[in-house]
Amino acid sequence: MQTLVVKYGGSVSEEHTFLLEEIAYYARNDVHVVVVHGGGPEVTQWLSRLGHATEFAKGQRITDELALQVVEMVLSGRVGKRIVRQLQKYGVRALSLCGEDAGMVRAVPYENGLLGYVGQVEMVDVRLLCSLLADRYVPVIAPLGVDANGQVYNINADFVAASLAGALRADAFVLATDVAGVREHANSQHTLEQLTEEEAISMVEDGRAIGGMIPKLQAVVHAVQSGAKAAYVLDGRMADALHSVMEGRSIGTRIIPTGIMKGGVEHA
Ligand SMILES: Nc1ncnc2c1ncn2[C@@H]1O[C@H](COP(=O)(O)OP(=O)(O)OP(=O)(O)O)[C@@H](O)[C@H]1O
Ligand SMILES: [Mg+2]
Repeated sequence: MQTLVVKYGGSVSEEHTFLLEEIAYYARNDVHVVVVHGGGPEVTQWLSRLGHATEFAKGQRITDELALQVVEMVLSGRVGKRIVRQLQKYGVRALSLCGEDAGMVRAVPYENGLLGYVGQVEMVDVRLLCSLLADRYVPVIAPLGVDANGQVYNINADFVAASLAGALRADAFVLATDVAGVREHANSQHTLEQLTEEEAISMVEDGRAIGGMIPKLQAVVHAVQSGAKAAYVLDGRMADALHSVMEGRSIGTRIIPTGIMKGGVEHA
């Protein structure tokens, strides 16, 4: 049975339903699919209704106490449930959880609290996910985590998805976002078809990737280093994105794990 972990970017808005239709298609056809979602734009919108400005650093939301509360409510509540409703409409049994459930995501403060209540993944426990997948559920996960003292943290969804993809030995890890893939630099028109782990790291270091692309590149590297067999950054608003991944057609940017130079998802 193949396993697919899809990070559904907050920037892929509600009216783009192709990706969820494809997720449901594969889930109905014997692929284990886990969805991890962001929801940045909606969190920012709710914070601004509360008169609260939003700042980002290293592509991540600086998270004070109010922002943390809003992140929890918006991601676990509105965004997660909306994705579940949509998937159910396409005929799969989806349910939403967050990284706090069943101790799925253990967090520590990101760089010693540099960004407030932003966490980084310390450890993931995928036992609940494995049971749900075996029972043909589609888990939809909000990117929150808890530390050893019970403090909750906001974690960039790209990192949570990457850690789960690694732990589940995903055949494909897909970061679906609002650009065609990784461009050679932030303002370039040219999307890179492939990237090695080393190239991905150097793009972060030398500033060719900025903002939300920083955690993505770090995440794809982590995913392939921790057990995912392939990783992609692609436009989640496009029709047939997952079909292309599953059939080995060129799509978005594919990250090549060091030492492996072959195409597509292996069909076991
Ligand atoms: N080299 C680059 N190539 C492509 N996009 C880049 C690059 N550098 C920066 N970016 C930016 O990264 C953005 C994608 O990250 P962003 O965090 O905004 O989306 P997301 O992760 O899909 O959404 P969310 O964070 O809400 O889940 C692109 O819209 C683009 O502006
Ligand atoms: Mg992002």
